[in-house]
Amino acid sequence: MSDPAVKPGQSVSEVRCIGCGRTALPDRFRCELCRDLLEIVFSGWKEQQLDPAELKAIWRERRTSFDPADQSGVWRFREILPEISKQQIITIKEGNTPVYELPRCAKSAGVRRLFAKHQGMNPTGSFKDTGMTVAASFARQAGYHWVACASTGNTSASMAAYAARGGLRSLVLIPDGKISWSKLSQSLDYGALTCQLKTDFDGCVRVLNEVVQRMPVYLLNSVNPYRVEGQKTVAFELLEQFSWEPPEHIIVPGGNLANSSAIGKALREMKQLGLISRMPKISVIQAEGANPLVRTMRETDGEKLVPVHAETMATAIRIGNPASWKKAIRVVRETEGTVEQVSEVEIALAKAEIGAEGIGCEPASAVTLAGLKKLVMQGFVKPNESIVLILTGHALKDADFTLKFHRGDLFAGTPFGVESQILKSQQRAPILLEPNVEAVIDLLHSSET
Ligand code: F0G
Repeated sequence: MSDPAVKPGQSVSEVRCIGCGRTALPDRFRCELCRDLLEIVFSGWKEQQLDPAELKAIWRERRTSFDPADQSGVWRFREILPEISKQQIITIKEGNTPVYELPRCAKSAGVRRLFAKHQGMNPTGSFKDTGMTVAASFARQAGYHWVACASTGNTSASMAAYAARGGLRSLVLIPDGKISWSKLSQSLDYGALTCQLKTDFDGCVRVLNEVVQRMPVYLLNSVNPYRVEGQKTVAFELLEQFSWEPPEHIIVPGGNLANSSAIGKALREMKQLGLISRMPKISVIQAEGANPLVRTMRETDGEKLVPVHAETMATAIRIGNPASWKKAIRVVRETEGTVEQVSEVEIALAKAEIGAEGIGCEPASAVTLAGLKKLVMQGFVKPNESIVLILTGHALKDADFTLKFHRGDLFAGTPFGVESQILKSQQRAPILLEPNVEAVIDLLHSSET
């Protein structure tokens, strides 16, 4: 392993502490003085005099290009990203994800129209790819040979893929038995050195933080400011898909809280660049059993993180000590959004409803619909406002959950047995039949309601 030395060069962007504003070296993750997180700031934009109309035209035009960087839904927005030399870009044509209208979910939530931006339609099946393309490319440009992450499964799948594409080695630390098999299988398939630690996600983070201090291994967890930059592009793309007319609400699941931070940063920058005139409200939804942000807001008014021992079947967001909590709170406050929590049964119901639209998502993404229902009931979201749910992961990411749901075993032996009775109408267990034409026709007749 060689020790890469990264020096800050002449650039439109620099890495700065979110707390004291001090400039940091580009490959650091925390301020050396106050230990706060870092973010990338584009101090050179003023001199560049970027013209919003021109930017919109260039970004759109690139969709018809065959240049690999233009074909990426992240790198076609490169004017608002940190500079990475084109030869170093590792892309699997991420981004450019669809927006779907969800009319039945809208009805069930009590709103007129509802849209979902489906980040599960990325190459490895989750929103992580948009951030990973930027951070992995930076790692390669900076001369690292090893990258690493602790993960609830999606970051690791994405990192393993981008590392493999870029000729880098990757180390994955995941909580033993607490991630879906499909996510684990991706990391193996893409060739990562995969370790299952007998702890939870927060425990994996603790171990990895020390490993990266002692070895020349580049950390690709979401404290990495380059990941946030890539994840930011989802909001640019969404606004482009809305003809730059901002929706009233964007609803995001909350785990380690980088995604909400990234989307908020994007909106702030879009306003600064004159691409939009107002910011949508960003609301963050957590599972009741993994609700440190909700507790932090309610119990300390956002002043001091309240870590929790996290427990939820939405394993992607089973996180009790989120790294980016300060950034997320800043975004929720600045956009006048809110935070909410939803129960395991509410998540399962919402996931089934999104599936029944022919779209599907993983459980962690479904907290958005479950949360929306609550926000409508509270009057925070009005029925005629425009709302976008950010669906973060593909339905196939957690097929076990879906099968158990439809077979009716998801809540067996849990304290949610009684509450889960409301799910019966959504359950469509596979039906075992003799290989007999009449039996199938009878079933068709009896199903015609
Ligand atoms: N949805 C999915 C599908 C996720 O995988 C994650 C996080 C989140 C939502 C929450 O996003 O952390 O930015 O608030 N997954 C991470 C991982 C932690 O390791 O894959 P966040």
